[in-house]
Amino acid sequence: MTKYLTRGVGALLSMTALSAPALADEVEVMHWWTSGGEAAAIAVLQEDLQARGTGWVDMAIAGGGGDAAMTALRARVVAGNPPTAAQMLGMTVRDWADEGFLGNLNAVAEAEGWNDVVPPAVQAFGTHDGEWVAAPVNIHRPHWVWANAGIFEELGLSMPTTWDEFFAAADAIEAAGHVGVAMGGQAWQEATIWEAIVLSVSPALYEAAIINADMDALGSEGIVESFEIFRRVLGYADPGYAGRDWNLATAMVINGEAGMQIMGDWAKGEVINAGLTPGEQVLCAVVPGTDGAFLFNTDFFAMFDVGEDAQAAQRNMASAAMSVSFQETFNLAKGSIPARTDVPSANFDVCGQTSMADLVEATEAGTLFGSLAHGHGQPASVQAAYLDVVTQFANSDMTPEAAAEALVASVGGAL
Ligand code: GAL
Repeated sequence: MTKYLTRGVGALLSMTALSAPALADEVEVMHWWTSGGEAAAIAVLQEDLQARGTGWVDMAIAGGGGDAAMTALRARVVAGNPPTAAQMLGMTVRDWADEGFLGNLNAVAEAEGWNDVVPPAVQAFGTHDGEWVAAPVNIHRPHWVWANAGIFEELGLSMPTTWDEFFAAADAIEAAGHVGVAMGGQAWQEATIWEAIVLSVSPALYEAAIINADMDALGSEGIVESFEIFRRVLGYADPGYAGRDWNLATAMVINGEAGMQIMGDWAKGEVINAGLTPGEQVLCAVVPGTDGAFLFNTDFFAMFDVGEDAQAAQRNMASAAMSVSFQETFNLAKGSIPARTDVPSANFDVCGQTSMADLVEATEAGTLFGSLAHGHGQPASVQAAYLDVVTQFANSDMTPEAAAEALVASVGGAL
């Protein structure tokens, strides 16, 4: 199943008449932020908008990573009734913009100088033919290890910086009676872990095998190695992991049932929402071997072109989402870092400050790449070809060699 709109369907849809569902002074917002931390973060936007006189009609579709929300969005557009605004990841913004469904935000973007403050890598997804079509609210980093500080202290462990240290820590955690690695069982969660491992093998491998979909790189020893490491990581999950939501896996780390989780920094939103301090009760470190590199995914709000009546409220929303104060408050709750470079770092915790510094470093080093698992690596149909193999590997006894071969076939067929 493809995650986003495919070109063929889009061409058909562009002939469908659209109508505005929301009143002039309100926005109907489709999003997938329904976990505790996510809901707390989006409430910030809702309140900001209400203070600006724009009402909020909430269209939340549960499901981490947004698969279900994107399916619901397509259904709404097919019915000729798109929401005023929708949360989207980078490649989806491109798809909908290519199909001509998105409104133009250039007037707000120019008046507020978005070009001067949004990093070019993020701009590349929020603009279409040089025009802004979506407002970026954050920069997430998907390759983190989260750990229960109490367990680490009790066992005398420190945050792993190599895979050997990671597996030694997981062994010690299991021996003490906890789950070694809390896992969730959905394709996007498995892919979040696998892509981090590919990056750890080398940033050059990530770039070649994922961003460039290079067939030699996909069938290489490095990819075989990534599946070997992935197989070992999977061995530390508890038997009940199939189908588990990511935030329930985070809760296992928070409450001490599990020692570690590999997940994006939206997991930090759960930690904060539980009243804990990241870096204190729950520790953070980038996935072993990924220091100096940075995978990112940005949540955008795109405005559907639903007619003039809706435009004032849409502009209001875009402007609210891009304000410095909103980006600070929102990202402090969400676990991500701002999509603007001019937000002070002082109030961010140690994990957030690390991300801010690493983003600058990776940009300069040429090791900043879009996340495949989170819609910034490949278009939907190609992304699905990767995820199919990764999830098949995770849920069978496929060998690493066979997985590399399957990737070549699957991705090669989708390109
Ligand atoms: C990501 C999204 C994040 C977070 C996560 C889990 O794709 O960018 O904001 O919500 O999914 O739902």
